[in-house]
Amino acid sequence: MESSKTKVAIVTGASSGIGQAVARKFAAGGWALALGARRVEAVTALADELSQRHGVRARARMMDLRAPNTINAFVEMTLAEFGGVDAVINCAGLALGREAADKGDVEEWMTMIETDYVGPIRLIRKALPSMREKGSGHIINIGALAALYPHPGSAVYASSKQALRAFLACVREDTLGSGVRVTNIDPGITRTGFAHVRFRGDTAAVEGLMKGFRPLEPEDVAECVWFAATLPSRVNIDQITVLPTDQTSPTRLHKSS
Ligand SMILES: NC(=O)c1ccc[n+]([C@@H]2O[C@H](COP(=O)([O-])OP(=O)(O)OC[C@H]3O[C@@H](n4cnc5c(N)ncnc54)[C@H](OP(=O)(O)O)[C@@H]3O)[C@@H](O)[C@H]2O)c1
Repeated sequence: MESSKTKVAIVTGASSGIGQAVARKFAAGGWALALGARRVEAVTALADELSQRHGVRARARMMDLRAPNTINAFVEMTLAEFGGVDAVINCAGLALGREAADKGDVEEWMTMIETDYVGPIRLIRKALPSMREKGSGHIINIGALAALYPHPGSAVYASSKQALRAFLACVREDTLGSGVRVTNIDPGITRTGFAHVRFRGDTAAVEGLMKGFRPLEPEDVAECVWFAATLPSRVNIDQITVLPTDQTSPTRLHKSS
């Protein structure tokens, strides 16, 4: 049963992987949800399922981080319908390809920059004033381990995630004293649709990466998001780096033979 104290989260990337696991975790915890992604059928089905299962208000909307009007409409819809937002959890993102910087496809680079940096900063810019006005709110971003270590074949993905990390650190400075919290979570390899997108649907390449390897499950990352979001309002988790036990860096994995 929803009460006036029910918390509200925007979750982007809720059609798949980490975003979907975050939505499930927060709905089970009684939060109301505004779920966004390009695949609107998937987020609508999830919203319906979570409303029925947990008795929470869950709404779905098409939101494309590369289309500013959809970001603005998504945030406006959430603020109008729920009267405010307690957490913006940005799980949407992607990598495309693993080519070296002299071989990468520039159009794919632009897609990564727009999805992993430009869209999220538009989203945060749109949502932040209502949080400052309310005197509370939480921006939680899913970054990537890739941002932390130079490694081959990742120049644009890693630098887009690194740029967003720097943006978030400055937002934290800009909002000091406002009650707004800012958290960035950098996961290592997680079993989601991510590798499938990165390898452009090459199932054999995805299987090769995962063979003998024990990745994180999306629920493991959702647990970190939940931890950061549910600590007392005086506590700000700036940064979480969460790795599979069998991974130490983007390129160093332990695999069973
Ligand atoms: N899985 C890993 O190994 C791993 C490791 C480190 C970091 N990450 C990061 O974790 C985050 C979540 O990815 P995932 O692992 O859960 O992969 P995933 O299963 O492929 O999910 C990615 C999500 O991003 C959404 N998305 C992609 N482009 C979008 C756009 N233009 N506008 C709106 N939504 C968009 C997708 O929804 P639609 O396609 O429906 O739009 C999907 O819901 C990403 O930021 C990724 O960079 C993943």
